[in-house]
Amino acid sequence: MLPAYLPNPVAALSGGGTPVDLGRKMGDGKRILGDGKTYRGLCIGILAGLIIGLVEMHCSAAYQLTWLPAQTAASVIALSVGALLGDMAKSFFKRRLGKERGENWFLADQYDLVAGSLVLLLIISPAWFFANITPVIFIAILVLTPILHRLANIIGYSIGVKDVPW
Ligand code: CTP
Ligand code: MG
Repeated sequence: MLPAYLPNPVAALSGGGTPVDLGRKMGDGKRILGDGKTYRGLCIGILAGLIIGLVEMHCSAAYQLTWLPAQTAASVIALSVGALLGDMAKSFFKRRLGKERGENWFLADQYDLVAGSLVLLLIISPAWFFANITPVIFIAILVLTPILHRLANIIGYSIGVKDVPW
């Protein structure tokens, strides 16, 4: 899941500039996605996920690290792109519910990247999905994700990258 976990914190560190929705609003008068989703965060975040995935591919092949899942180009792309697509989909629905940028939305904020990455994985590479995302792994992902999310946001808040610790 590293290629899915890395894009969000990297986007938070590198984001800024032109928003993905270009400042446009929907019929409800709210922004399509909001200022929290920028092209820079999206591109650098995905790039970080792709790089860590390539490192994983290299390591499992070169050093025969059997405990590392054998990432493929498809799995790496699905996990990293899917993570931030899920994040943007969440922001879209968050705005429709009238929630401001950065406002807390329990469960959606935690699991957006899991939903996005695993759904894209299922579409792009179903064989890899069923070989690697076993029921035990899936439960581990569900348990670990909110913990990692909380930790990352506390760190982000304390170093001044995030305005709120969630
Ligand atoms: N970020 C970005 N581009 C993205 C995703 C994130 O620039 N595609 C940056 C933004 O600076 C954002 C920060 O990462 O403020 C934290 O991301 P997130 O918590 O997902 O955004 P929020 O600001 O909380 O906005 P939202 O309410 O829409 O989730
Ligand atoms: Mg947020």
